[in-house]
Amino acid sequence: MDQWTWTVLKTFLADYRTDLFHLCNLWKVLVLAVGGLFLLKIYSTLTLGICKDKRDLRGKTVIITGGNTGIGKETAMELARRHARVILACRNQEKAKLASDDIVSLTGNKNVKIMKLDLSSQKSVRKFAEEFKRTNDRLDILINNAAVFALRERTLTVDGYETTFATNHLGHFLLTNLLLDLLKKSAPSRIINVSSESHRLGTIRFDNLNSERSYVSDIAYSHTKLANILFTRELAKRLARTGVTTYSLHPGLVCTDIFRHYFGVRKFLVNLVISMYGKTALQGAQTTVFLAVKPGIESFSGSYFSDCKVVGTSAKAMDMKIAQKLWEVSEEMTRL
Ligand SMILES: NC(=O)c1ccc[n+]([C@@H]2O[C@H](COP(=O)([O-])OP(=O)(O)OC[C@H]3O[C@@H](n4cnc5c(N)ncnc54)[C@H](OP(=O)(O)O)[C@@H]3O)[C@@H](O)[C@H]2O)c1
Repeated sequence: MDQWTWTVLKTFLADYRTDLFHLCNLWKVLVLAVGGLFLLKIYSTLTLGICKDKRDLRGKTVIITGGNTGIGKETAMELARRHARVILACRNQEKAKLASDDIVSLTGNKNVKIMKLDLSSQKSVRKFAEEFKRTNDRLDILINNAAVFALRERTLTVDGYETTFATNHLGHFLLTNLLLDLLKKSAPSRIINVSSESHRLGTIRFDNLNSERSYVSDIAYSHTKLANILFTRELAKRLARTGVTTYSLHPGLVCTDIFRHYFGVRKFLVNLVISMYGKTALQGAQTTVFLAVKPGIESFSGSYFSDCKVVGTSAKAMDMKIAQKLWEVSEEMTRL
């Protein structure tokens, strides 16, 4: 072999080796990434909280806000399966009727009713509470589940408040307070507030409760989810020794319609991640169902749960001074 051929061959082999090296590295990265994602999936499946308690709820009355779809509907389905009398408190009566028909036909429980409730309107909340108290003599479990997420623009409700804050926090604050006498009368009873891990991104700024200074759609939601936890803690304090207990929770990342206001690439990516790693709505309902039925959790009143166990919150969600002030401001805003 002459010198020239040998040089070309050596160069070719060196290049090929380098390419081969890069290719191997790429494969290693890919294998590690796929392996990592696979392990993450196994981990999330193994740590999934499932409510194993089989308690029957015959004779119990439950209200669930936003029970026409997603986590709320699956929660309602599970409680109806346990023979509870279930009231779906929903703003859209056609959707609510479809959901209740579905629940009745799948569980055989005919005690599933729908009632009109638009949490963004205080008039509607008051009307709902009045009608409920007029037609029912007990309330054992109130599940504050409904929420709006990531509204593209800052909008105001009929009462003049920012829609996310008004719906997710103020509406439930007012509803709960209006139903408290009945809950106390029916004690032992429970109030369950569906919050989210996204509360960690939220802050309660009393000069920006209505997002008048700044509005970032996802963060506006996080503020309200923080408010849900603070509300739960303050409520637990105020309800001590009444027999009414209260809990907040994170349902997990759940495949529902909650991301309906996302669009474009963001929507595509979120849907991709959720379809791979999200819980089903039934799995997402497990912690709510657990808190509704599990006996002996009364001493945890005020706590925050995820996957059917108590978990920690952000430091901001433990600030009882803020919790008390938020209560007082909410009282003023709802003219309680
Ligand atoms: N999905 C998740 O990954 C996730 C994660 C963390 C926390 N969460 C929490 O889980 C809860 C349930 O969410 P989801 O995922 O099931 O969402 P979803 O499928 O979008 O359901 C939200 C429900 O809230 C109702 N709602 C909205 N505005 C209302 C109003 N003004 N008055 C009465 N009802 C109203 C909706 O009614 P319409 O059908 O009429 O719109 C719907 O029934 C929420 O509190 C949410 O913050 C969800």
